[in-house]
Parts: sequence; C-alpha cells; structure tokens
Amino acid sequence: MPQLPTLIAPSLLAADFARLAEEVAAVEAGGADWLHLDIMDGHFVPNISFGPAVLKALRRHTKMPFDVHLMIAPVDYLLGAFADAGADHIMFHPEAGPHPHRTLQAIKALGCKAGLVLNPGTPVSMVEPMLDMVDIILAMSVNPGFGGQKFIVSQLDKIAAIRTLIDAGGWEIRLEVDGGVDPTTAPRCIESGADTLVAGTAVFGAPDYAAAISAIRHGAA
Ligand code: DX5
Ligand code: ZN
Repeated sequence: MPQLPTLIAPSLLAADFARLAEEVAAVEAGGADWLHLDIMDGHFVPNISFGPAVLKALRRHTKMPFDVHLMIAPVDYLLGAFADAGADHIMFHPEAGPHPHRTLQAIKALGCKAGLVLNPGTPVSMVEPMLDMVDIILAMSVNPGFGGQKFIVSQLDKIAAIRTLIDAGGWEIRLEVDGGVDPTTAPRCIESGADTLVAGTAVFGAPDYAAAISAIRHGAA
C-alpha cells in the first residue's frame, strides 16, 4: 500500500461566494493542489450550486487544476460547457445516466481527465468494467448535496477495497475522498489508501487556510 504524495483539493462550495476570486487565491497561496468544484442541479442532488460561467470567471485567477465534480443528471450534454470553461478533471456519478462508459469516452475526447464518483451506497464493482478509462475514482464519504456533513466511517473499508483494486491491476488512478474530511478523518482516509483529499468546511471554515491545509495533509502523512 500506498502511494502517491497526498494532494489536497479545497471545495469551493464552502467558500464565501461573494469573494470567490480572493478565496481561490488564498487557498492556492495556502498550498492547495487542486480546486474542487461541486456542480449541483437541484435534481440529481437536493441543492443547487453554480455552473460553467463561474469556472470560466475563475479560470484566469489560478493555476490550480479544476477538479470538477458533477452532481447533475443527465450529464453528457453539459460536458463540453465545463471543458470549455476550464475543467481539467471531470467526474460524474454512474447513476447519472445509462451509459457511463460513453460519458467517460466523451470526457476523454474533450481532453480532460475522467473520474467516476461512488456514493456511499454505490458498490465498488460499479467501476470495475471501466478501470481502463478512469484517471480518478472519487469515493464519497457523505451523501452528496451539501458541505459540512459528518464523515461516514463505513466508507473506509470501501476506500481500502478500491485501493486493492487499483494496486492489483497496476492502474494509474488517483483515489480521492470527498465529504467530512478534516485533520481527524484525513489520516484514516490515507491509511485506507486514499491519495487525494477534498475538504470544504475544514479549509474554508478555518481561520488560517494554510494551517488547515497543512493539518489535513500532515495529519495524513
Ligand atoms: C458534497 C460535495 C463535497 C463538499 C465537501 O456533495 O461533493 O465536495 O463540498 O464539503 P465538506 O468538506 O464540508 O464535507
Ligand atoms: Zn465534491
């Protein structure tokens, strides 16, 4: 077991929406590796966040890769809009449509890295037929839709099972965890095999973003 150096991806969902460019600059200066962008449609999940126009506006304010988590259904018709707006990684839930393999092909054709997102209730087997197509597996440790929820501990076993699957096949796939990640839960994610951690509240809710990012990363080391 592991693994690649731990990457930290602050989730913009917990930022001050009235000061987005400043917030993005602050987490980048604080050592963040990727910027996680949660896209919610009020249908696939019971909340609405923001869309490609916000990505486009922020793109020139940061060099961080845009790690885009689509919680929308259907998903295919909007992939181009997010790629054009500056998405580097596009991740979606296989439940969003009947043809997840086709969606992965479409994301690759747009020149983006592709990711599959597993809800707490979605089995690991869902990704098995598509391992050759994915660059990132995003394991949800909360049910998607809201920031600030409690980490679901039962997901640690699933993270470990995904790590086993990745290592057994020798796949170059990042294993990212999303939901309730803080300096306490981060080490448990890493021990279970995660190499990339999303954190919203634990970063943007902290008084010092650099200290928070460091605590999540090094708590995890
Ligand atoms: C939840 C989102 C998460 C969320 C994480 O649907 O996918 O990325 O912003 O927020 P925290 O870190 O506060 O649980
Ligand atoms: Zn997310």
